[in-house]
Amino acid sequence: MQDQLDRALSEAEAAAGAVRTRAELEALKARLVGPNGSLTAVTKVMGTLSKEERPAAGKLLNAAKARAEALLAGLLSKVEEAELAAALGPEVDPTLPSPDAPAGVLHPLTRTRERVLATFRKLGFVVAEGPEVETEWHCFDALNTPADHPARDMQDTLYLPASFRSADAPRKGEEALLLRTHTSSVQVRTMLGRKPPLRIVAPGRCFRRDAVDATHSANFHQVEGLWVDRSVTLADLRGVLDFFVKETFGPDAETRLRPSFFPFTEPSFEMDIRSPDLGRLSGRWLEILGCGLVDPKVLEACGLDPAEWSGLAFGLGLERIAMLQHGIDDIRHFYANDLRFLRQLA
Ligand code: DAH
Repeated sequence: MQDQLDRALSEAEAAAGAVRTRAELEALKARLVGPNGSLTAVTKVMGTLSKEERPAAGKLLNAAKARAEALLAGLLSKVEEAELAAALGPEVDPTLPSPDAPAGVLHPLTRTRERVLATFRKLGFVVAEGPEVETEWHCFDALNTPADHPARDMQDTLYLPASFRSADAPRKGEEALLLRTHTSSVQVRTMLGRKPPLRIVAPGRCFRRDAVDATHSANFHQVEGLWVDRSVTLADLRGVLDFFVKETFGPDAETRLRPSFFPFTEPSFEMDIRSPDLGRLSGRWLEILGCGLVDPKVLEACGLDPAEWSGLAFGLGLERIAMLQHGIDDIRHFYANDLRFLRQLA
C-alpha cells in the first residue's frame, strides 16, 4: 500500500511541473483524487483490510492525502499568480518617461511677452491688466483724444452695438463700449485705481478695424508702460527704453527717438532701433514703439495734479518685436497655428 501511495504521489509531483493553467490543474487533481483517481483507488482498498490492519493503513492514507493537498494548493497559487500577471499585461516601470507624449511649446508671442515683461520687471515695473471691452472714455477721452480724432472713427474702431450701452454711466463716454484699440486704456485705469508713485506694464490684446495683410491684423497684442512719480523726465524715458532694447536685441543695438505725435503724450516720440544682428534688416533704422511724457491733461483726467506728478509712457506691439527678433515677414504666421512654424521658433 505504501508503494502504491508513493507511486501515485510521485507521478503527480512529476506531472506538477508542467501545470500552467487552471484546466491542467483540474486534470491533475482528477487523476489524483477524482472518482477514478490514483489516491481514490487506494482508499477503496481500505474496505478490504482487516480491523487490525486498518489503523496503520489509515495513517498512511491520511499522510498521503495531506501531501496531495499541499501539492494542489501550491499549484493553485502558482496558477493564480500566472492569471494575474496575464491580466496586468507586460511589466511596466511607471517611473520611466513616457515615450508617446510630445511636449508642447509656448507660442512665440507668449515667449516674447514674457521676455518683455521680465525685462521691465528688472526695473521695478509690475504687471497691470484691464478689460478688452472698454469704455470710449477710458480708451479715448481720458487719453486726451478729441471726439473728432480719426482713431475714434467707426472705420478704425470696433464699437459694440448701442444695446450694450449703460444708461447710468457717471461720465460721458463711459456708457459707450468698444473693443480697446490700444492698451493705453490701462494707464487710465491704473492712475484712477492706485496712488503714485507707480510703474506698470500692461500686456494685452487689442482690436482694430484693419484689413488683414502681411503687417496688419484686426487683433494684435501690445504692452503698455507707465511710470508716474514726482519728477519723471525724458532722461528716464531714454534710460528705460535703452535698457529694454539692449536686453531684447543685444548690446550692439542702437536707439533713437524721433519726434512724433500722440494725443496722450507731450512731447511724443517714436523710437527706432538699428542693429547689426537683424538678418536682412541689419543696419537699418526700424520703428519699434511709441512713447513720450504723459500729457498733463491725461494726469488731470485721472485725478492727479500735474504740478505734483509727472510721467512717462510707452506702447509697443508684441508682434512687431517678435517679427524683428525672428525675421518673420508676415504677421499672419502667428495666428495660423501651423506647427512647423511654432516649433521652428521654439
Ligand atoms: N497707444 C499707441 C498705439 O496704439 C502706442 C503708444 C504711443 C502708447 C505713445 C504710449 C505712448 O503710451 O506714449 O499706437
